[in-house]
Amino acid sequence: MQICVVGTGYVGLVTGTCLAEIGHHVVGVDDDRRKIDTLKAGGIPIYEPGLDELVARNRQEGRLAFTAELKEGIEAATVVFICVGTPPLEDGDADLSAVEKVARRIGELSSSYKLVVEKSTVPVHTGMWIEKTLMVYGHREQIEFDVASNPEFLREGTAVSDFLHPDRIVVGVEHPRAERLLLELYEPIVNRTFTCPVHTNCRDAGPVPFLVTDIRSAELIKHASNSFLATKISFINSVADLCELVGADVELVAAGMGLDRRIGRAFLNAGLGFGGFCFPKDLQAFVKIAEKCGHDFRLLREVDRINQARIRQMIRKLRDQLWILKDKVIGVWGLSFKPDTDDVRYSPAIALIKQLLTEGAVVRAYDPKAMEKAREALPSLVCCQNPYEVASGADALVVATEWREFESLDLMQVKGMMQRPLILDGRNLFDREKMRSMGFEYLGVGR
Ligand SMILES: NC(=O)c1ccc[n+]([C@@H]2O[C@H](COP(=O)([O-])OP(=O)(O)OC[C@H]3O[C@@H](n4cnc5c(N)ncnc54)[C@H](O)[C@@H]3O)[C@@H](O)[C@H]2O)c1
Repeated sequence: MQICVVGTGYVGLVTGTCLAEIGHHVVGVDDDRRKIDTLKAGGIPIYEPGLDELVARNRQEGRLAFTAELKEGIEAATVVFICVGTPPLEDGDADLSAVEKVARRIGELSSSYKLVVEKSTVPVHTGMWIEKTLMVYGHREQIEFDVASNPEFLREGTAVSDFLHPDRIVVGVEHPRAERLLLELYEPIVNRTFTCPVHTNCRDAGPVPFLVTDIRSAELIKHASNSFLATKISFINSVADLCELVGADVELVAAGMGLDRRIGRAFLNAGLGFGGFCFPKDLQAFVKIAEKCGHDFRLLREVDRINQARIRQMIRKLRDQLWILKDKVIGVWGLSFKPDTDDVRYSPAIALIKQLLTEGAVVRAYDPKAMEKAREALPSLVCCQNPYEVASGADALVVATEWREFESLDLMQVKGMMQRPLILDGRNLFDREKMRSMGFEYLGVGR
C-alpha cells in the first residue's frame, strides 16, 4: 500500500519504517527541515535501538522516503497517518494545533481519496474534529475522506519490536472501508507473515489481536491505558513510602504482588516516578477532557500529584543526608526519562537537576545517550565523559535512570573517587546489601 506518515519523531519514524519493513511504500513528512535533511543524508534524529539499520535498508530498497512537503508526501498515498506531537498546554489540556494544521492541509492538498488515521495520542472527540476539518477545508464533493483512530502503544527503547509485535492493534472506525484498509495494512503484523528483523521464532506466537471499535472508544483506550499504567506506578510509589515508614522492602512487596496474574509485576517499580512524552501529559489531558465533559477524575489527579511529589521526596532525602545542598557536589547518573532512549522530555532526572540547581548544588551528570538532548533542555548542565567522572569528588550520587551500563561499573573505583560514598538509588538499580557491604552509604526507594 502507499502510505504517508506525517511527523517523523519517535512514533512517526518507527511507524513509517516498520510499515515499510512489512512491505508498504512509505513517505515520511516532517515540517522540521533539519530532521528531513538528517534523514535524507542517511542519519536518524533520535536514538532508538535497531531503528537506524531498518531506516537505511528500507530506504535502500526503495520503500521509504522522506520529504518536508506534505503535498509530495500525500500525493500517492491512500492512508495518511498523523503522528505529530500533542504537547500539554499550561492547563494540562492537549495542544492539538499541529493535528489540526495537518488535517487542514491534507484537506486542502488532497486530490484523491484518503484514509486519515490519527496515531498521535489525542483526547476523545479529536477524530470528529479531524473529520469536520477535512470537510471544511477539503473539496468534499469530489474527494472522499475517511477518518480512523489507531492509537500507538510502542515504548521508546523497544519501539521497533513493540510495533512489529504488539500486544494488540486497536482501530477506531466509522466506515467499513476504513476497517478494510487498516486490516489490509496491518495484515502482515496480525498474521506475523513478514520476515522479522528482531526475532526468529515470533511466528509461533499466534495472531495479534485486532480490535475494531468506534473512533471515540479507540481514543479512550489509549488515554485509559496510559493512565492505568501511571496509576500502577504512583500506587507502588505510595506503597514504597509506607515501606520506608514500617521497615519493609517495596521490592519484595512488588514481587509478591506481581506473582498474582491479575496484578502482574510490570509497572510496579518504585522510584523517582514516571516521565516522558506520554504518561504525564496524557494523564493530565485525560483529566482535562473528563472535566470538560463534566466528570471529575479525582483518582487520576491524585496519581499525578503523587508523581510530582517524587522529586521533592528525593530532595528531602538528600537534605536529610547532606544537611545543606548549597555548594554540595551531586552527581547524577542518567538523564533520559527511562533507559535505552535519548528522550529527556519530562524526564524526572531533569526535573531533579533543575531543583538541585535552584538549591545551589553543583550538579554533574552523565547519560549514555541523552546528554546532547539534555543540554538542549538545560543549557547550564555540566555533562561528564563517563560515570566515573561524575563520581569524582561528589558528596552524593543519585541514580536517576536505570541504564544497565551502570550495573557493570567498577563500584569500588566509584567509591574511591567520591568525596563521600553516598548513593541515592532513585531506581532501586543496585543490590542494597551488596552496596552496603562494599562500604557505600546506600539509600534506595521504599527499602
Ligand atoms: N514517544 C512515545 O513513546 C509515544 C508512544 C505512543 C504515542 N505517542 C504519541 O505520538 C505523538 C507523537 O509523539 P512523538 O514522541 O513521536 O513526538 P515527536 O516530537 O518526537 O515527533 C513529532 C514530530 O511531528 C513533527 N511535526 C509537528 N508539526 C508538524 C506539521 N505540521 N507537519 C509535519 N510535521 C510536524 C515534529 O517536527 C516532530 O518531528 C504524540 O501524540 C505522543 O503522545 C508517543
